[in-house]
Amino acid sequence: MEITAALVKEKGGKFELEKITLEEPRQDEVLVRIVATGTCHTDMAARDQQTGDTPFPIVLGHEGAGVIEKVGDGVTNLKVGDHVVLTFGFCGECYTCQHGKPTYCENFPALNFGGARMDGSHSHHRNEQDIFDNFFSQSSFATYAIANKRNTIKVSEKAPLELLGPLGCGIQTGAGAIINSLKVSPGKTIVISGAGAVGLAALLAAKACSAAQIVLVDINQERLDFALELGATHTINSRNENVVESLQKISPKGFDFGFDTTGRNDVINSTLSNLKSLGQMGIVGVATKPLEVEMNAYVLKGIKLIGIVEGDSVPTEFIPEMVQMYLNGQFPFDKLIKKYKFEDINQAIEDSESGKTIKPVILIGEYNA
Ligand SMILES: NC(=O)c1ccc[n+]([C@@H]2O[C@H](COP(=O)([O-])OP(=O)(O)OC[C@H]3O[C@@H](n4cnc5c(N)ncnc54)[C@H](O)[C@@H]3O)[C@@H](O)[C@H]2O)c1
Ligand SMILES: [Zn+2]
Ligand SMILES: [Zn+2]
Repeated sequence: MEITAALVKEKGGKFELEKITLEEPRQDEVLVRIVATGTCHTDMAARDQQTGDTPFPIVLGHEGAGVIEKVGDGVTNLKVGDHVVLTFGFCGECYTCQHGKPTYCENFPALNFGGARMDGSHSHHRNEQDIFDNFFSQSSFATYAIANKRNTIKVSEKAPLELLGPLGCGIQTGAGAIINSLKVSPGKTIVISGAGAVGLAALLAAKACSAAQIVLVDINQERLDFALELGATHTINSRNENVVESLQKISPKGFDFGFDTTGRNDVINSTLSNLKSLGQMGIVGVATKPLEVEMNAYVLKGIKLIGIVEGDSVPTEFIPEMVQMYLNGQFPFDKLIKKYKFEDINQAIEDSESGKTIKPVILIGEYNA
């Protein structure tokens, strides 16, 4: 079938809307009519080849939401008309998948960043030429997408489908880090660095978990002011404050948890040095430099530094759970979203990179609410 997709043709290139062809879904795949797709910094990281050797031309996009249009013969968990959120790809068969940890799937790089299916084939073509695809097993910057039955998650029709795509990655990463990975409980204290989509989703989740102190650190004052509106108890602008000293003033005995979304050495170390004994620090950012830490001090305090992918989510459980929290009014992640038309995708990316918009969502197709 003919679809319109946003193609990136070279490292750092713009998104170009073009008509290309999409194959029928295979046995274990579904065809999804995309209603909207969030943009995430990992799209830009892949565009810039920071996540590995991204092949071009490629269809990126990995926070898709839409309606099932067709299912392959082997798909029993989904049916035509289902409202779905597309999430990261995982194989379901490797050791970590079998042990309930799909975010650490041994085939994660191939299924999410490989630019093709596991067997090397493509579902997107233009005049006989293969287009690189299968980004996060979806490539959802397009009017239609092929996804696998495993990473296509059925959601309640009571929720506004056009807002739900970011639950498949950015929002899931922040909220899952707090709820699933760090398991923040009532009365605990946390420092969150980076008040972007991931950090602010973490803030909303920490609030939902009744954390006593939630400190947001960023260099963007507007985002910090917004964090206060969303429920942060304190903010620190690291452009004009000494973060270590400010954290000591807020909690002289230290914090229970840290969560970093900036991927920066100095920022991570400021939080680490203010954790209590047995404190835990989650890290998720795509870093451009190796992390250096004062090892001895942290060994003596039994500090845990934890790498986290996609908020340790088991998507079939956690995505519907976040939708339910949203419907209950406990998780207003829609406040982070600004909507853009498909033809304005480059503006959305620019606004995200400049810090103007926290979570752009690209509106692609209609659905009957
Ligand atoms: N591990 C995962 O599973 C996963 C999933 C999604 C996103 N990510 C990554 O998480 C990171 C955050 O994503 P996002 O969408 O929230 O990005 P974002 O750009 O919206 O947020 C990052 C924030 O960090 C702030 N910042 C930059 N330098 C800073 C500094 N020196 N001190 C304090 N704050 C600083 C920025 O102002 C911005 O508000 C990205 O690297 C993204 O690729 C990881
Ligand atoms: Zn696996
Ligand atoms: Zn992402």
